[in-house]
Amino acid sequence: MSALPGRPPEPALQLDDSLSQRPHELYRNLHASGAGVRRVIMPPGAGPWSGLPVWLVTGYREARAALADPRLSNDLQRTARFFGGGAGHSRGAFSVALSQNLLHADPPDHTRLRKLVNKAFTSRAVQRLEPRIEQITADLLDRLAGVGETDLLVTYASPLPIIVICELLGIPASDEDAIRSWTKGLVSGASPADMATASEEIGAYLTDLVARKRANPGGDLLSELIRANEDGDQLADAELVPITFVLLIAGHETTINLIGNGVYALLRDRPQLERLRADSSLLPRAVDELLRHESPSSHGTFRSTTADLPLGDVVIPADELVLVSLIAANRDPVRFERPDALDWSRPQTSSLAFGHGIHHCVGAPLARMEGRIALGRLLERFPDLALAVAEDDLSWNRSTLIHGLRSLPVRLTA
Ligand code: HEM
Repeated sequence: MSALPGRPPEPALQLDDSLSQRPHELYRNLHASGAGVRRVIMPPGAGPWSGLPVWLVTGYREARAALADPRLSNDLQRTARFFGGGAGHSRGAFSVALSQNLLHADPPDHTRLRKLVNKAFTSRAVQRLEPRIEQITADLLDRLAGVGETDLLVTYASPLPIIVICELLGIPASDEDAIRSWTKGLVSGASPADMATASEEIGAYLTDLVARKRANPGGDLLSELIRANEDGDQLADAELVPITFVLLIAGHETTINLIGNGVYALLRDRPQLERLRADSSLLPRAVDELLRHESPSSHGTFRSTTADLPLGDVVIPADELVLVSLIAANRDPVRFERPDALDWSRPQTSSLAFGHGIHHCVGAPLARMEGRIALGRLLERFPDLALAVAEDDLSWNRSTLIHGLRSLPVRLTA
């Protein structure tokens, strides 16, 4: 390890299950040590990166600097080398092809893809969805009437974003269940064989979908992506399939957990919950504060250094793996006063919940709108909403990408 003068090299810290199960406790201790970047060993049983040495960025200032630095690559071909066997390791052809999307590209490829996606995914397209999101939310809430207890992740937080992203992309409603089961398998870390099967199936499905939209375009986002044109440059089918894939995955796994984590955080803080109930104009601020407080996208994607990278009080050498912890940065006490408190009166926070720099989330306005409607309407409809289990009985998914509960049993009526 390279350390700048004044910072003696430290041994790498072995991480354990607390990375996913008690991240705030882990990061409170790391923040207290004063270092915003440190070398860690990934926990055992955590996926292909288990046991790998990684530079973990936890400070807000350092995280922002890292995410804006061109020496930190998001190119999957580079980072996959660290996981043994390259990008194709234990994965089918589609799995590799699907990963080659804008999230996993560096400039100039990223710049080109992002421009074309921005052309199709406009704020007008998102605004147009508002009445439909209200309608889907109302229908889901109607179905919960008279149900005493429910797992809110299954009956509310999951269906809303999946219906929205499928409708946005022009995926027929009859295919939503299949999409949900494929994407769930891919994100929650099934066995490599199951993941390969799921990505083969979803890859074949999306290839067919792109062909159908080309032959018969409509008013949906996928048709807009096919039409998108920047000085004569257009997206090829081989690019459209992985872009549709990343929109599908990023467009709902995170939003599910904005709703799930949001409800969880609200039910643990009655005074803030009551303030919100009394004044619904606080909802947009509340959504941003909930995103900061219990960030659904926990660590972003694995990145790697292309050159020595000075960060905080260390220099990360070239060709090292880096994980930028958004969940840690969003509770950095140097940046946020009383970081563990939920507080709608916080001055505008500019949290890193949607990332930062060139990969800043394309879908942030849509996610905010879904969060505002879903949380607001749920609180209106069920004033007695409460957790149906003790907090200690809840557990979190073991993922480095997504911070979300495995289930969220709630009582809807007193
Ligand atoms: C990128 C978070 C919803 C599409 C990102 C990144 C974060 C993020 C942190 C950057 C990842 C990195 O740099 O490693 C979230 C959260 C959401 C959400 C917390 C919900 C609460 C959505 C939605 C869509 C979407 C609804 C699309 C419909 C994307 C795409 C990228 C991205 C395409 C890649 C952008 C690029 O590489 O230029 N998101 N996201 N996200 N997100 Fe979101």
